[in-house]
Amino acid sequence: MNATAAVALVNVTKVFRQGRRTLADRIRRAPDTRREFAAIDGMNFAVGNREVFGLVGPNGAGKSTAVRVIATLLEPTRGTVEVCGIDAAKHPRTARRRLGVVLGGERSVYWKLTGRENLEYFAALYHLPPRDISRRIEEVLHDMELLDRADDYAERYSTGMRQRLSLARALLQQPAVLLLDEPTSGLDPRSAERLRMHVRRLRDAGHSVLITTHDMAEADQVCDRIAIIDRGRVARLGSPADLKRLVRATQVARVRLGLPGSARDCDLLETVGGFATVADKAINGPEIEMTLHLAPGVDLLPRLVEAGTRHGATIRGVDIEPVTLHDVFLAVTAPGESG
Ligand SMILES: Nc1ncnc2c1ncn2[C@@H]1O[C@H](COP(=O)(O)OP(=O)(O)OP(=O)(O)O)[C@@H](O)[C@H]1O
Ligand SMILES: [Mg+2]
Repeated sequence: MNATAAVALVNVTKVFRQGRRTLADRIRRAPDTRREFAAIDGMNFAVGNREVFGLVGPNGAGKSTAVRVIATLLEPTRGTVEVCGIDAAKHPRTARRRLGVVLGGERSVYWKLTGRENLEYFAALYHLPPRDISRRIEEVLHDMELLDRADDYAERYSTGMRQRLSLARALLQQPAVLLLDEPTSGLDPRSAERLRMHVRRLRDAGHSVLITTHDMAEADQVCDRIAIIDRGRVARLGSPADLKRLVRATQVARVRLGLPGSARDCDLLETVGGFATVADKAINGPEIEMTLHLAPGVDLLPRLVEAGTRHGATIRGVDIEPVTLHDVFLAVTAPGESG
């Protein structure tokens, strides 16, 4: 294991029991029928120093479970987690001192306190040296652009401000490593961009950042390296450019075709499959939308027109784009819980 990694997971597995075992079941000593389920299943990766490392993957892939295990909020069933070379299971308090954590969903601020009071409360909870507290609070308020609203109640903050306050709280102890679970979910495009700017600044100031996101454009923009998680394991790992090279296509086409009632979408798909890889498809009533991966040199339009004519379909739109992380995601992950 690389002792200098900011975070290192080696063969980490977390097994949950799913289903319900009531008190009556326990008293009756009924057999435990709960299903064991590995939310993370032999996961390995290492986050480098001064790196923004992304975890992406379908719903239920195990990203938040991995974040909680690293944060020492969940104990792994097997495997080891190190934070700055410290074994998190053996020395959780020491590991936690290196970590600033912003969990998804839960905004981890008290609504009935002002922004500044929230930070005072957490500074005390984290045992910051009393003589440093007020200076440190001013610093994080300034860094997160919250000084002018610091004395307003957190309940009056917008979602973006509350998320910046959560980040300010996570920064109080000047942690080497930040764990951010979906920090931009629910933020408008400008607020999300502002948060990404803060993430890049924090990296440039020397922090290591582990971030989860469902926004592939965001992952591409902000992450130095990305692990694509699928069913509890690392399916692929690399820089955004490395990952894009995994899609064996130089271009991607998003195609919309109108289908008359008489046309059979499977026949059309079979014809299209003859000159492109159908990476994704959605049928919305009389319209079919496809994402096609194109090998170098394929001249799409004439073939599409021919396929359309043969099956009575009309071409409603074609966009040809370079490969994006979105395409990589579709290519390497299985459909998620909703798929
Ligand atoms: N405490 C728990 N008990 C039982 N199962 C759990 C528990 N926590 C999570 N799981 C299950 O573990 C799996 C992974 O969940 P997790 O929240 O880590 O996924 P995720 O990748 O963060 O998904 P999302 O993108 O939706 O946030 C899911 O199937 C979830 O239902
Ligand atoms: Mg999650």
